[in-house]
Amino acid sequence: MLQDKFEAEIPTERYYKEHCSGFTYHKRFLGIKGRYVNELEKRILINLIGDVKGKKILDVGCGTGRFTNILTRMGAKVTAIDPSPEMISYAKRQFKECRFEIGDIKNMRFPDDSFDVVVAMRVLIHFHDKKKALEEMVRVVKPGRMVVFDCANALRFDLPAKLIKRFLGIADVCTDFTFPHKIKQRHHHRKLKIRTIIGVKMLPPLSFLVRFLGQNRMILLELLLGKTPLKYLGSRCYILATKRGKVK
Ligand SMILES: C[S@@+](CC[C@H](N)C(=O)[O-])C[C@H]1O[C@@H](n2cnc3c(N)ncnc32)[C@H](O)[C@@H]1O
Repeated sequence: MLQDKFEAEIPTERYYKEHCSGFTYHKRFLGIKGRYVNELEKRILINLIGDVKGKKILDVGCGTGRFTNILTRMGAKVTAIDPSPEMISYAKRQFKECRFEIGDIKNMRFPDDSFDVVVAMRVLIHFHDKKKALEEMVRVVKPGRMVVFDCANALRFDLPAKLIKRFLGIADVCTDFTFPHKIKQRHHHRKLKIRTIIGVKMLPPLSFLVRFLGQNRMILLELLLGKTPLKYLGSRCYILATKRGKVK
């Protein structure tokens, strides 16, 4: 694997506990570029899971709660977990009406078949070994229901920057880059059927481009292209899968 050559990676739990505070993470979504990425990801999530009203949703690795908040506002009953106490307290302060708790994707306290949708945005991309996380997500979702996650494309335009950082030994959170033809294999689980892949961030989210095209137009263009075979040129792929079995 690409990343095996590099040692300057910090395990994701430690990185978000010790190197990235809630505010540092929240700041990524400010500014013209950050707002664009935030809105794009929100639209992708809604596009993938559709109407969430009344549904029981688990937001795993919720971070500062940006998706927990959206889904709650859309009428879902959301439980959000994250292992970082700092992220959780930041999220609680920001979104008082949402339910947040400390938890680990690899060992969740919920019974089998508990949720209508399990969402893990920007979480699995941090694990080289995704087996245990996938196993747990599949366990807690109800049969026939949805699991949503994403992966970082090894063909992404910012991979060189990440590699240079690693080569120079600049500590960074571990990121698992997946080549498009390996997406299904890397997220394989016997009970999971991958249904849809949307590939976006084909266009570098540069501020001038967002300004020039306008946020909405750029998002529409990305979503349109992201469903064609060009999706595999996107720096990030968002995946909708369902748990095998009949909906009860
Ligand atoms: C890039 S942030 C994503 C946050 C949020 N999902 C979002 O998209 O804004 C990754 C999050 O995964 C959390 N995380 C790290 N290890 C985890 C684990 N073992 N189980 C659940 N979440 C984890 C981190 O604490 C961090 O908040």
